[in-house]
Amino acid sequence: MNLRTIDKLDVRGKYILLRDDFNVQIVDGVITDAFRIDQSMPTISALRAAGARIAICAHLGRPKGTRNMAYTLAPVAEYMGIPLIPDCLDKEFMKTMRDGDVVLLENVRFYPGEEQNDPAFAQQLATGFDIFVNDAFAVSHRAHASTVGVANILPSYAGKLLASEIEHLSAVMENPRRPLLSIVAGSKVSTKIGVLRALARLSDKLIIGGALGTTFNYATGGKVGNSLYEADQKNTALEILEYARANNCEVLLPLDKGVSKEFKPDAPRTNKDFTEIADDDIIIDAGIATTERDVSEIRNAATVIWNGTVGMAEWQPTWSYGSFAIAHAIAEQTRAGKLESIVGGGDTVAALTACGVKDDITYVSTGGGAFLEFIEGRTLPGIAVLCDS
Ligand code: 3PG
Repeated sequence: MNLRTIDKLDVRGKYILLRDDFNVQIVDGVITDAFRIDQSMPTISALRAAGARIAICAHLGRPKGTRNMAYTLAPVAEYMGIPLIPDCLDKEFMKTMRDGDVVLLENVRFYPGEEQNDPAFAQQLATGFDIFVNDAFAVSHRAHASTVGVANILPSYAGKLLASEIEHLSAVMENPRRPLLSIVAGSKVSTKIGVLRALARLSDKLIIGGALGTTFNYATGGKVGNSLYEADQKNTALEILEYARANNCEVLLPLDKGVSKEFKPDAPRTNKDFTEIADDDIIIDAGIATTERDVSEIRNAATVIWNGTVGMAEWQPTWSYGSFAIAHAIAEQTRAGKLESIVGGGDTVAALTACGVKDDITYVSTGGGAFLEFIEGRTLPGIAVLCDS
């Protein structure tokens, strides 16, 4: 991959349109996890120090092409201490900009042309800028006007975060230290088929957990009670198991589960083996034996790739048990220098943050869907457009 980067670029006095992914969770106007914003700072600082005039373009949520102020980027501008330009197509602010100045443009998804990758909208967005820099790895799987459209109009480059994501994820995909253990969980088989197949090809062992694991348990004849699972994905699950076998990858499914009769944070927890699960039981977390097995597999691995929590990790402490045990085991082994760890996905990274171990992980990706597609080996359109052939 011949990625054009900003390393040797002369940006002094130039107007830079910088695409960042600031799609963070905001509750009552307060950012609950600023990881994506913080990870964007090295590029912003480098461009500022080099004398660029920077307008950051970003999205928040899915306002569906309308100016819905529930999705304003104002809390992000406040967090960063920079001005918010209320309309991403307004160019007035450029007239008074000096070298090193930075502004944030309001949510680019307020315009329908963004997600449609409308060429006229991309042209309006690009007008007045000299250079486009994409540092938004997390949205580079979307062919939108602000990821692909503008890159076809302006000289375009990858920022430091984007380059770092590609470097770290490619390294583990191309030459992992073995044994390689992948842990994939989450809710839907349908959104993870590609990544499960890719990781079955690449890994020595694959743990499948969470509601995803429940679907696999169901497919292989286990009792799942009243839990969240996808009956219609039974054949897909069986095909993935067969595919893993053909690729010499050992798949480890949940052995037992943390269950309750109610689906709520303070519901009382019981540990049950799959044979004991009653029709009205709801599986909410990994069980004790499963977690012990997972921790021991982590201790025997040289590389771990983790995406997806194995239970309702945000319902602490009762239902975060399995996910937190995985987070701590991965962190411990990485700290001890025995493990290379790669973690991606919003909920998974939130679990690391809640455990206070994010800094112990070898590489934490800012990507959710983009992380999965990259691991799958798919070409991300926002990246392809930044590469020389
Ligand atoms: C993400 O949060 O994964 C990215 O910002 C992409 O968001 P989207 O799924 O709404 O396109």
